[in-house]
Amino acid sequence: MYFDSHAHYDDTKFDSDRTDLLTNLKEVDCIISCGADLNSSEKSLQLADKFDFIYAAVGIHPENVESENDIDKLKNLATRKRVKAIGEIGLDYHYENFSRDKQIELFKKQIALANEINLPIIIHSRDAQNDTFQIIKECAKTNGVIHCYSGNLQMALEYIKLGFYIGIGGVITFKNAKKLAEVVEQIPLEKILIETDCPYLSPEPNRGKRNDSSNLKYVVEKISQLKNISHDEVAKITEDNAKKLFKINF
Ligand code: NI
Repeated sequence: MYFDSHAHYDDTKFDSDRTDLLTNLKEVDCIISCGADLNSSEKSLQLADKFDFIYAAVGIHPENVESENDIDKLKNLATRKRVKAIGEIGLDYHYENFSRDKQIELFKKQIALANEINLPIIIHSRDAQNDTFQIIKECAKTNGVIHCYSGNLQMALEYIKLGFYIGIGGVITFKNAKKLAEVVEQIPLEKILIETDCPYLSPEPNRGKRNDSSNLKYVVEKISQLKNISHDEVAKITEDNAKKLFKINF
């Protein structure tokens, strides 16, 4: 049984079969459904209220920086009972049309909120490795997870020193994921969380199709091969890691 530390079950790609899919999902013990704006954070909370194995993370993704920055509204959501993290938040320099200054300001405000209410943070970072690391190092008083990790081994070790976990998903099964394979081989299993980021980033052999938590077995199998540790042990330890980070007991 697996702990899916990062999913987006509020996504419209699940509109046709969401309840059926989640009701019949036997492979996972627990899921963190992450918000990307206020609306999807609210929807994640509704899912967490409906399913006892789902918890919510609430946050504003850097891609939504131009349309949303209402930290008071986010705080109202963040203090609700089924919320276990602030996320996903961070920096994305991939597209030029999102102001970097505004992203940094919003990122810092959301870290301050996590500090204030003592919740871990779920970090999105794309093409912004150094700024993300520096801001976390300077501002974060809680720990968290670097979701869909794409940096090198040295930076992963720096994050681990700060108490952070490294999120590994479908990308690890891709043939060209050599740098990520090295990260997984070299860091302790006790610092790895597994995730789908569904409906995105389906692992091989389902790459390109809609992703869901039942595909975590391919991610766990790949980690198991890279670390030469049994499949069950990878599942168990990554689940324990997530329970510890998000303070969930079951
Ligand atoms: Ni995500």
